[in-house]
Order: sequence, then structure tokens, then C-alpha cells
Amino acid sequence: MSRPIVIIGAGQGGLQAAESLRSAKFEGSILLLGDEKYLPYNRPPLSKAFLLRECERDQLTIRQAPVFEKKRITLETGVRVEKIDPGNHTLMCNDGRTIGYEKVIIATGSRARSLPIANVDVEGVHCIRTLDDTLKIQAELETTKNLVVVGGGFIGLEMAAVARKLGKVVTVVEFADRLMARVVSPMISDYYKNIHESHGVDVRLNAQAGEIIAKDGCVQGVKLSDGEELPADMVVLGVGVRPNQELAQEAGLICEGGIVIDHKGRTSDPDIYAIGDCTAQKLSDGSFLRLESVQNAVELAKAAANDIMGNDKPFVAAPWFWSDQYDVTLQMVGLSGGYDTAVLRGDLGSASFSYFYFKQGSLIAVDSLNQSSDHMAGRKLLGGANSLTPDTAQDLSYNLRDAIG
Ligand code: APR
Repeated sequence: MSRPIVIIGAGQGGLQAAESLRSAKFEGSILLLGDEKYLPYNRPPLSKAFLLRECERDQLTIRQAPVFEKKRITLETGVRVEKIDPGNHTLMCNDGRTIGYEKVIIATGSRARSLPIANVDVEGVHCIRTLDDTLKIQAELETTKNLVVVGGGFIGLEMAAVARKLGKVVTVVEFADRLMARVVSPMISDYYKNIHESHGVDVRLNAQAGEIIAKDGCVQGVKLSDGEELPADMVVLGVGVRPNQELAQEAGLICEGGIVIDHKGRTSDPDIYAIGDCTAQKLSDGSFLRLESVQNAVELAKAAANDIMGNDKPFVAAPWFWSDQYDVTLQMVGLSGGYDTAVLRGDLGSASFSYFYFKQGSLIAVDSLNQSSDHMAGRKLLGGANSLTPDTAQDLSYNLRDAIG
């Protein structure tokens, strides 16, 4: 019997790779290995609707068990791959098995970063990455009064918004001089600072957690680097993620802040692909970009499956992301870093507007707040040639779709 295609990691990307192989008429065996004990589930609601108990646990599950049988995808949960041996085309698992492979798709994702500060491991200090993380936080929130969130990125701010809705006293401690600085422009950062403050969050910029204050193994507060002490019976760290690239590194694959791949998910080994958060792609200026998004996982999964099947369908679309905080949905397409011109489309006071970012006259990104039609137009505009200018972008009487192509 021929060896299977083994997919390491049963998250959204891994599952998509398996399903895309079947859609592309791959007839051999597919083995999907995941170290979590759950069926593949949607991660984004873990810091949003699910955390707020607005959706049921079952709704997170992407595919129910019978689908795997129907599609002949062998899913094994609770199994961790510990080594890839590219020379012998084998994998070693934590249960002692050695599994032969035809091709491997690494879809190991990323893990929450911790902080190298005192008492970070005590009870009551959490990160949000897995279903188990959120279940623990949900249970503890019942009795939490004071929450300190360390990190003012998407995760930290989504956590803060949920906690305010539940009536908790919330402080956000952000190292940088503005919120979500890694992903949004200063205008959007300022707008979100105002939203959070108007909902009663104490937002501390240019602030750093120096240590966790603990008593009897439980969190009591956070001591900032300037000595100030913030009381807390829960601390959530939202200080970024790290790619799970160690398996690839140890197998000798090229890694540069992520497993290096091309637009088809191909690594430096012809029989090993990698997709999603654990990967990085080389840009035209020689630097490497690692994207953290559902789109990046899903679309690379399709591209990798297609390449394995000999179909030339690389993933080249503009990246998009979203965040839900309070009643505001922020949708981003493209990467705005390095823009030289930004124009507002709509009215800042209306809580429904977009910023369009240009570099040397070309559109590079669109950030939309409660304005999904602009976001969808932005995806089309950035998906190919377009004639949008700063003037037409801010003219509400101009139909954005007229600039496509
Ligand atoms: N103290 C305070 N803030 C810190 C510290 C620190 N020691 N270290 C980092 N930060 C801040 C960063 O300045 C940044 O604003 O934490 C924030 C982390 O933001 P992100 O890198 O965007 O990471 P995070 O919010 O954890 O999200 C991780 O999960 O849902 C996905 O889309 C999300 O891809 C993102 C990922």
C-alpha cells in the first residue's frame, strides 16, 4: 500500500489541506494528526463571541466526525509529531509510532508568547490560543473583579472588550505608544483607544509589565516597570505569538522567523509543504513576512494541495484580517505599513468609515470599520490592477468598483 500524505496539525489550515486534496481528486490516504484533543475548531471566536458565551462550543467545530469518514480523512487527535526524518520519509510520534509518508504538510500554527517576568506561571495568568485556554478563562471570569490585560494587540483588546461587557474592571498595559501598532495605522490606533476608554477601560500606553505579583501561587496584581502596582485577580497576556517551526528546523528546512515557503506552500524539501501561521514568505526586498490569519492558512492549504496534484494555483491574494471589539468590526485588507498617503472615506463621527492607504500613488491597504462593502471592494481592488486615487477614494459619490481593473 502506498504511503499517506500526512498533515501535521489539525487546525483550520490542516483540515483545509485535507479537504482540498480530496476536492482535487487525490485518491490516496490522508492522515491528519493533531495534538489537541478536539475535532478541528475555529479559533477566532475564542477571544470574541465564544469567550462572551454568545456561541456554543459545538458551533466552533468546523466539521463533525462523520465528514472525516465520508471524505476518507483519517483524523487522529491527541497525537504529537516529535520528529520528521526527511531522508527516510518518516515521522516519529509521541505514542512511539514511526509513520512513513509520501508528502508532509506542516500546519502546526503558532503558540502564544509568554513573558520572561517573575510569577508568570501562577494561577490566574492566562493566554488565549486554544479552546482549553478560553474554557479556563470563562470559568474564572465568573469570580473575577479586576482584570489586567498585558498587550494591546487584537487578542488583548478583544479580551478587554469582552471583560467590560461582563462588567469587570479592566486595565490594558501596552508597551508601545499606541494600540495594535503592528497592524494598523496611528489613526485607527487612536480611534480604538477612544472606544476602549469610552467603555471604561484604563488604557496604559508606553507601559511594561515588570512582574506578576502573587500570593500562595495565585495572581494578585501586576507591577509595572515604573513600580506602580495594579491589582488583578486575573491577568491575560496578549503579547504576540511564535511560529511552531521547531519540527521543520530540526528536519533541516530553511526557517526565517517561520518555515520558509513560496506561494504554493513549498519548503526547501520537495516532499514537505508548510502552510499558515508557522510559515514565512520572502518579499521582493529580501525580508521575510509571516502572516497570522485564517485566510493565510486556508488559501495556502488550497495552494499546497493543488501543487501536490500538479495544478498551478498559487496563493497570491492580498492578505486580510478582522477584529471584533464591542459593536465595531474592523476589517483590514493589504498591509498599510510604509504608506505615504492616507485618506478617509466616510465620516469619523459615524462609526462607519474606511481609511485607504497609498504608497507612491498606488493603493496598498484599506482598513474599514463597520463598513464591509468598502472592505470587499478593497479586496477586489488589491487583487489586481486598479485605478483608484486618493481623490476618488475619499469621494463618497464615486463607486469604488469603477476603479477595478
Ligand atoms: N508589555 C506590554 N505590551 C507588550 C509586551 C510587554 N512586555 N510585549 C508585547 N506587547 C504588546 C505589543 O506591543 C503588541 O501591541 O503586545 C501586543 C501584541 O500584539 P500582536 O503581536 O498583534 O499579538 P496578539 O494580540 O497576541 O495576537 C496574536 O492572534 O488572533 C490572532 O490576529 C491575532 O495574529 C494575532 C495573534
